[in-house]
Parts: sequence; structure tokens; C-alpha cells
Amino acid sequence: MSNTLDREFKFSRKDFDYISGLIYDQTGIVLAEHKFDMMYARLARRLRQLGLFSVKEYIAYFSSPEGKDELPNLINAMTTNLTRFFREAHHFETLGKESLAASVRDAARLGQKKLRIWSAGCSSGMEPYSIAMTVADSLPDLSAWDALILATDIDTGMLDRAKAGVYAKSDLADAPPSVRKKYTRRAPDNQLVIDQKLKDLIRFKKLNLLHQWPFKGSFDVIFCRNVLIYFDKDTRDKLVARFVEKLKPGGYLFLGHSEALAGEKAGLENVGRSSFRKGGA
Ligand SMILES: C[S@@+](CC[C@H](N)C(=O)[O-])C[C@H]1O[C@@H](n2cnc3c(N)ncnc32)[C@H](O)[C@@H]1O
Repeated sequence: MSNTLDREFKFSRKDFDYISGLIYDQTGIVLAEHKFDMMYARLARRLRQLGLFSVKEYIAYFSSPEGKDELPNLINAMTTNLTRFFREAHHFETLGKESLAASVRDAARLGQKKLRIWSAGCSSGMEPYSIAMTVADSLPDLSAWDALILATDIDTGMLDRAKAGVYAKSDLADAPPSVRKKYTRRAPDNQLVIDQKLKDLIRFKKLNLLHQWPFKGSFDVIFCRNVLIYFDKDTRDKLVARFVEKLKPGGYLFLGHSEALAGEKAGLENVGRSSFRKGGA
């Protein structure tokens, strides 16, 4: 915690406790004491936009009728959205070589080419687009499939970026060059735009994972990576149990590396680093 006197805006421990309590109640994100400076930096940007002079003033604004629509802005400011194309690349290998290969076998057996994948906590879209690239590469007859990738996040700013599908070339540095070439086109300022065919595979939706999940049906694959890490153990365990319920028998769950323990305890088969499979197929 650095000296309060150096700060552009007044920010007290009481302000910190108020905002971290609110964020925990609304999103499940735990902002412990060592996040004091991080919270300040993120709030400062919002205070400047609103022309306010202290966090206390911001809290008063938030609680007033004028601030009734402020909650999404506060949540957007408090989420951590770090992501990359093909982050933890071995998950995409397992997706292509094991999970999608199994879906192709099931489709032949059942006479139904249906695929449902969920990217839960999709941030700016790099994860669901990496999934879409893997799907398009693994299923040459993709147009014959009823395939859908649901991509959800609580952060509306990130969802807007995800829907636009425009990224700096450097964001795709970890994408296999052949995939990058096939599924993006050049845009001004050294940017790349995602191919419309991939965009059409994805439905981006705002969803708070703590709330009810308003979709019927179950998933062949769920990605929820580097999201649970911000929650406490109880919330993590409850969410993983809900993911397991939403998976089809034989379906795959991919978690972040530091979140693997929650998967191990959920009675899933461990099929690789932070990769799990539901039994019963
Ligand atoms: C670090 S990013 C992870 C992005 C991507 N899954 C990856 O691994 O690269 C975490 C995302 O979780 C989202 N998030 C945090 N709490 C959430 C909640 N309660 N419901 C839905 N999304 C949430 C954040 O907005 C953020 O975009």
C-alpha cells in the first residue's frame, strides 16, 4: 500500500473494503488487501472519466440515482482480462485430436453432426476464436455440422472487443502460422480481422457465472480457464460441479493450470495437464 498523500485521488481503507465487498457479492472476485494499489489504479481511470475527486465521492455517486447504471462500469474496471490466442496450446491439441475426433465418431454412430462448446470467461475473444480455428481445422465438412461456440463473460467492454474480432498481429503470435493465414485477413495499422465464417460459429453473450445459466442442453466441451483463480475455494468448487452437470457424458473440461485441483476433486478423469473428461460415454 503506497502513501495515500502521493495519490491523485483520496482512497481509504474503508473505500477499499466497500468496493471489494461489493465486487465479491456481485462477481465472486476476491480482491484481497494486496490488491489495494491495483484497485486504486483501475478506479482512478474511472474517476477521471467521471470528473470526480475522491473514491468516497465515487461511492456516493454509485449509490445515488444518477449512478444507477454504474455497476457494469465498475465491474468492467475490476476484472482482469489477460488472454492470448492459443494460450496453453496443449488444450487445443487435446480438443482437436481427442475431443473433436470423438465427436466425429459419435456423429457417424448417431447420424447427427452436432457440436456445442462453451468458452466461459472468454475475455476479448482470443480463446473462443482459437477454439473456432481448431474446430474449423479439425472438421473439413464443418458446414454440414450444427456447430456452435457459446462465448460468455461478465465484462461488457471485453465482449464488444470480442464481437469486433480485430486484433494486433502480435496477439496472434502463438497461433500456428497456417491457421493464422487461413482464418484472418489484414486490416490497417498492422491489425488482423477474424474470418466471418469463424465469427458465425460463435455467439457472444454477457453472463455472470454466479447467476443462473439460461441455456438448455449440454456441452461437448467447456473451457473455463484463468477465471476460477479469482474466486474463493467454495465458489470454485461449486462452479466446477455446475460445469460437470452441464457436460455431456464423455465431454471435456479445460481449466487454467493453477485451477486444476478443482477439476481433480470433481470426480472427472484427468486426461492431461488441467484437462478433464466426464465419464459415462
Ligand atoms: C483472465 S481472463 C481469462 C480469459 C481466457 N479464459 C483465458 O484463459 O485466456 C478472466 C475473465 O473472467 C471474467 N470473469 C470474472 N468474473 C466473472 C464472472 N463472475 N462471470 C463471468 N465472467 C467473469 C473476466 O471478465 C475476464 O474476462
